Amino acid sequence: MTAEDRFAGKTIIVTGAGSGIGRATAVRLAEEGARLIVSDVVADRLDDLKTSLPGADVRTVVGDVTDSRTVDAIADACEGRLDGLANIAGIMDGFLPVGELDDETWDRVIRVNVTAPMRLTRAALPLLIESGSGSIVNVASEAALRGSAAGAAYTASKHAVIGLTKNTAFMYGPQGVRATPWRPVRSPRTSKQRSSANSPPAGSSL
Ligand SMILES: NC(=O)c1ccc[n+]([C@@H]2O[C@H](COP(=O)([O-])OP(=O)(O)OC[C@H]3O[C@@H](n4cnc5c(N)ncnc54)[C@H](O)[C@@H]3O)[C@@H](O)[C@H]2O)c1
Repeated sequence: MTAEDRFAGKTIIVTGAGSGIGRATAVRLAEEGARLIVSDVVADRLDDLKTSLPGADVRTVVGDVTDSRTVDAIADACEGRLDGLANIAGIMDGFLPVGELDDETWDRVIRVNVTAPMRLTRAALPLLIESGSGSIVNVASEAALRGSAAGAAYTASKHAVIGLTKNTAFMYGPQGVRATPWRPVRSPRTSKQRSSANSPPAGSSL
């Protein structure tokens, strides 16, 4: 098997595929033969991704991943076959300590970074179990390991991602499903991205 066909015949969901790590993941999977279901809240970004992958089998689902209709649309796009789920969409929190944290930022960060991956995992599990070797990758962060990498909301959310991932691995490993947290190293970002980070959907992340 070559790198070109490592994912041949596999169907993989990638959230946050319009930018950054999600886009890079989607491109690599397509190059290695995967059938992709890519999702993002920004339609233009998905259109651009699809255009950049002529010949690849790419389905796009535009929507906010915190909206259950988006989760349903992603699940429907699988058409009964799923081998992998990459929960990559995520937002930052403006590095706010808890004393300065407003409820809206907390709720939004938790919904995007934790609740949405949980719902997508729940929706994907039946097909992942059926595939016999399903895989879930949840993007964590340095902030999942220590308290000094981001604000309170993002730090709490990424710690929660680790807990969700560990529990999923424990509960569904016996049925052939792997769940893995992934901690990217920090990618270069501009100071503008950092300062606007808590205004989704364009928010950058740690
Ligand atoms: N970039 C880093 O250095 C870094 C480091 C550690 C962890 N991470 C994590 O990696 C993931 C991706 O980070 P990135 O830097 O590539 O981010 P990014 O901002 O470049 O891309 C995130 C994508 O997710 C989409 N998105 C955001 N909220 C959404 C929502 N509610 N519904 C649907 N789509 C939504 C955005 O439109 C965007 O296209 C995040 O979970 C982040 O926390 C990033």
